[in-house]
This record gives sequence, C-alpha cells and structure tokens, in this order.
Amino acid sequence: MDRLGVNKGGFKILSGTANPGLAEEIARHLGTELCRVAVSRFADGEVFVRIDENIRGADAFVVQPTNPPAENLLELLLLCDAARRASAARITCVLPYFGYARQDRKDQPRVAIGAKLVANLIETAGADRLLGLDFHQHQLQGFFDIPVDHLYAAPVLVSHFRKKNLKDLVVVAPDVGSAKMARGFAKRLDASLAIIDKRRPKANVAEVVNVVGEVAGRDCIIPDDMIDTAGTVSEAARALKSLGANDIYVCATHALLSGPAVERLTAAPITEVVLTDTIAIPPERRFPTLTVLSTGELIAKAIRFTHSDQSVSSLFD
Ligand code: R5P
Repeated sequence: MDRLGVNKGGFKILSGTANPGLAEEIARHLGTELCRVAVSRFADGEVFVRIDENIRGADAFVVQPTNPPAENLLELLLLCDAARRASAARITCVLPYFGYARQDRKDQPRVAIGAKLVANLIETAGADRLLGLDFHQHQLQGFFDIPVDHLYAAPVLVSHFRKKNLKDLVVVAPDVGSAKMARGFAKRLDASLAIIDKRRPKANVAEVVNVVGEVAGRDCIIPDDMIDTAGTVSEAARALKSLGANDIYVCATHALLSGPAVERLTAAPITEVVLTDTIAIPPERRFPTLTVLSTGELIAKAIRFTHSDQSVSSLFD
C-alpha cells in the first residue's frame, strides 16, 4: 500500500467508448468486470460521463485511447475528473494510443505543441499516473510530471512472427526514425536489418529514396509504431518487391487506418499486415490479409503490477 492507501479499495477498470473491446479484455484478464460507467451526449453533442458505482478509496484505471474523434480525449478527461471527485484513491490513465503525440515540437512557426497540451490536460483532469504503449517518441514521457510506465507491443508482435519460423529474415525500418525499433525486432527474431531512406515531400505523402541493406530473395518484416494512411509501409513494400524481396510482412502497434489506408494495404505486395488492438478497428476497415493481435493481456499485467507496486519493466525482461 502506498501513501494514498490505494490498495484498501481494490482496483476498478473504467472505460470510455473509444475501445470498450480492449477494456473488456483487460478486465477479463484481471478476473473482474468493467466498472459501471454511463457515457452519453447532450442533444448538442456535448459529452457527459457518470460513474455508476462506488469507487471511493479505489485504485482506478481509466482505459481510453485518444485517437480521433476528439471526443475520445474529452471522455478520458471527464472520466478522470469524475473519478477524482468520486474520491478514488489513485487514478491511472491507461493510454493504449497517445493521440496528438506527433505534435511534439514547434517545427514550424506558430504551431501548437499538441502532445504537451494533452499531457497537461490529463494531469489537470486528475491522473496520478500514466500507463502508455508505444509512444511515437519515447521522450514524450518527459511531457508528464506524473510517473509514466511505457509499455512496448513488440513482445506481442514478435511472438506472432516467431511462430512462423521464417528463415533468412530481414527486418526493414521504413524510415530512419524507426531504425531503433527495427533493430530490436531484428535482434529478437535473429534477423538482419535494412533501413529505408524515406522522404516526405508533403504531409501524409511518403517516398522511398533508397534502401540500405540486402533484401533480394529474402522475407522481410516492416515494423512501424503506427499505420495512418499507409503511405509509408505500402511504398516501402513496393520498393522492397522491386529489389527482389520474397514475402513482405508489415506490423505496427497503432491502427489509425485513415483515408486510403485499407485500399493501399490491399493493393501493395504485402503477404500479411499485423496490427494490435490499441485502437478499435471497425469491421469496414478490416481486410483479408489483416491479423489483429490483442494487447489486453500485456496491459492487464501492467495494471496488476502497478496495483501491487511490482516492477512494470520486469514484463519486458
Ligand atoms: C512516422 O514517423 C511514423 O512512424 C509512421 O511511419 C507514420 O506516421 C505512418 O504514416 P502513414 O501511414 O500515413 O505513412
């Protein structure tokens, strides 16, 4: 028990409407049910939340990714505020996907730093801790002044590929920024590493300039933190195919799948697209080569460890 006495009220898992499937899965792994919460809208669309059971003295975990629409973020903030006013002993914001994280610096005149603003809002709403998964940049942890536990979906993705027993494998970083993540995958899968030199002539447009590394005649895995419009991975797959790669697999943690993403992923020379469930994928955004892996068990373990003051990093040993 810590200074807040958080263990005396047990733990409660609360969810907004952004990804109730994942929240239910987390609760199932923890052997509990979701805390009763009502989330609705006023006639004009304003968001309303109410916690429908006693959480006084409880260790509350509010599960909600903040992908668009922005109401997802508002639901999260309102739930934290409601939990604080309902006298929860401690509130942990569980952020399977940190939306607005890409706006992490002032790289053009007169732009907002959305990631910092969202971090401030989460703290102001009452979160005492944050549990996040594959932030766009790891240093975003420093945008929060509350403790942050940062999880990686890599073990979930890697164990999927291990079962395939792929031989003579190359892990291909789709851009220089993903090289560190790709190196981690390559090490775990006993594969070699290649790196794509990607340029963005404008926002959401990706161009492959060069591939550094040997891919001809080999199976390739392209890992990324997120697939948004799928320009990055579909252009990468096309470039690898033109260099003589065999089967090409794509994996990513966060399935934003916006705009032309499904069309691009279906048309590109990709054998399988492996994504996780940090963002709910509606039926109309699913396609035959898509595999969705659950992060529910991983997040549930992290919640259990947080609640019992065990080391969360030991999950990745
Ligand atoms: C880039 O920094 C990210 O890691 C992703 O590669 C990028 O956001 C994916 O965007 P899109 O799918 O639109 O190419």
